[in-house]
Amino acid sequence: KRLILIGPPGSGKGTQSPIIKDEYCLCHLATGDMLRAAVASKTPLGIKAKEAMDKGELVSDDLVVGIIDEAMKKPSCQKGFILDGFPRTVVQAQKLDEMLDKQGVKVDKVLNFAIDDAILEERITGRWIHPSSGRTYHTKFAPPKVSGADDVTGEPLIQRKDDTAAVLKSRLEAFHKQTEPVIDYYSKKSIVANLHAEKPPKEVTSEVEKVLSS
Ligand code: AP5
Ligand code: ZN
Repeated sequence: KRLILIGPPGSGKGTQSPIIKDEYCLCHLATGDMLRAAVASKTPLGIKAKEAMDKGELVSDDLVVGIIDEAMKKPSCQKGFILDGFPRTVVQAQKLDEMLDKQGVKVDKVLNFAIDDAILEERITGRWIHPSSGRTYHTKFAPPKVSGADDVTGEPLIQRKDDTAAVLKSRLEAFHKQTEPVIDYYSKKSIVANLHAEKPPKEVTSEVEKVLSS
């Protein structure tokens, strides 16, 4: 399947992605993860992206379209994919359509992680991440077995630099202004499935499974 996950920061895209990936054996492309890796290794791309990311603003369309175009060439992404955090502007959505048109394929479903803004600050400020695997925890909603350590490797967990209440405000603003129109773009194609993203993770997973098996 070819899937897109859209939702505001903290809505659960990264939490549901590995579950969907394991079940449907797809390639998982998260532009945020790819950009953070580029920032960490100080590549030319990372240097260009860092300032916008630190402020909670979107990185330029050209940069992210470039990384997606490159990543989609992987053999594992030919039969299907999960895009997590892309497209985030209407221009990005149009570019994606152009890329897929060339291959004669289409997006099957857009999962819209619908949730109220008010819930997101607690989710974002309590998030802890295992950097090398991307496994995500939450101090209250998904605590690790040992505080501050990854369940599988025991390695230390970190917090994202943009996971503060102040930067969250800019990220939400970017979402409402620039990304919500992308949901309309796909609604017109009648491929959007709305999820109740405020529910506990397992319930969201069941909703996702229902949508994907229908
Ligand atoms: P990105 O990394 O994509 O961040 P985001 O969209 O802000 O989304 P998050 O990763 O914060 O949220 P999530 O939905 O994955 O939440 P999670 O599942 O971890 O982008 C970062 C930056 O990169 C952007 O600001 C921009 O600068 C740049 N960028 C990226 N893509 C771009 C693009 N296409 N164009 C331009 N710029 C781009 O969950 C959050 C927490 O809540 C976790 O702790 C989790 O354990 C917990 N949780 C999850 N689900 C539940 C639940 N159901 N109940 C309770 N707790 C839950
Ligand atoms: Zn994420």
